[in-house]
Amino acid sequence: MSVTDDLHLLDRRKHPALVIHQEHPLNVGTPPELAVQSYITPQTHFFVRNHGSVPQVSEFRYTLSVTGMVQSPLKLSLAELKEEFHTSTVVATLQCAGHRRSELATIQPIPGEIPWGAEASGNALWLGVPLRDALVAAGIDPRAKHVAFTGLDEISRGGEHFGFGGSIPLEKAMEPEVLLAYAMNGEPLPPLHGFPLRVVVPGYIGARSVKWLANINVQEQPSLNYFQRQAYKRFPSDVQPETADWEQGTMLGDLPLNSLICQPCEGETFVPGPLTISGYAITGEGHQIEQVELSINGGASWTEARLQAGKHPWAWRFWRAILDLRPGEYQIIVRAWDSSGRTQPEELGQVWNWKGYLNHAWHRINIVVKEESIDASGQSHIGGSSPGEA
Ligand code: MTE
Repeated sequence: MSVTDDLHLLDRRKHPALVIHQEHPLNVGTPPELAVQSYITPQTHFFVRNHGSVPQVSEFRYTLSVTGMVQSPLKLSLAELKEEFHTSTVVATLQCAGHRRSELATIQPIPGEIPWGAEASGNALWLGVPLRDALVAAGIDPRAKHVAFTGLDEISRGGEHFGFGGSIPLEKAMEPEVLLAYAMNGEPLPPLHGFPLRVVVPGYIGARSVKWLANINVQEQPSLNYFQRQAYKRFPSDVQPETADWEQGTMLGDLPLNSLICQPCEGETFVPGPLTISGYAITGEGHQIEQVELSINGGASWTEARLQAGKHPWAWRFWRAILDLRPGEYQIIVRAWDSSGRTQPEELGQVWNWKGYLNHAWHRINIVVKEESIDASGQSHIGGSSPGEA
């Protein structure tokens, strides 16, 4: 295994419109207007969230170990994994816990964290082996409660070097949708997304979908890895970095109900008339999107959006609506409802937390609608005055 400069992996394989937040480690977001172009996000458009360098792993030397509270620990090559277990697929949206953090930072700065806009979300068709089949083959000790994962990348924190890791409850690990995935959208998993093998935990924050998977450990307690024990914890809104007691935060697991306007974009100007608004909604653990609504009067009244085809239980749901808009300045708001009867919180202040995780407040964008005018040369202008007039 060797580690290289990861930027070169972007050149050929990623769309030029992706937002580069960080080069080392590589962190790249999918602008919402690009995300909404295809229900299945092509590999070229898919966001990348890394905490360390991308390890270059030889498929032929790679092994996965299953250890801990099991009757027979396993050591499997990729070929053995593919041959000895049946395959399964899932359409699942990966979303980082830091998605929409930049909106939270408008209330109070969130230093030291990547200022993700609504760019850390993508939907793929994953192919692999159900995690539960590998666990059953190893034989689970009845006292076990958690399944921990460790990746091959090297992270440095506080003078220590370790692989990125995290865990999920055993109950979730035994659900059929959780995969050990080796293909994404019908192609081998690319290096940026975890080649040769990653976990995909549908409905959970992206951090639990560990890439470049080296080890699965069955245990009684959640993982002690920094990214489970310390990072990716949520604290109440009144807790500040200085007062945070790491033992008190809640370890993040399933994703909250969320919805997003992808088009139009913030600050765009349009002529009066019908305007198509589009976006997606997503919900965590086992619920379905029931309804998506838009408001242009601060939430006093709502217009229902049409839910689009493409209904997979672990994936985002696209929606679309047409609003007939007269000249003026508008704030367009979206909120969703799911099958458990939940909706989203109204204000950013209700969900603010000092790490900037899980922003699922109403999403708002501001646009302007202006009359179109034609100048002497026959060119049209939005907003009245033509060049040289004012
Ligand atoms: N796995 C490893 N080994 N190292 C990482 O840094 N990042 C996690 C997760 N798995 C990470 C990892 C986070 S925080 C997210 S959101 C997802 O991978 C992102 O997956 P992607 O880069 O394929 O989009």
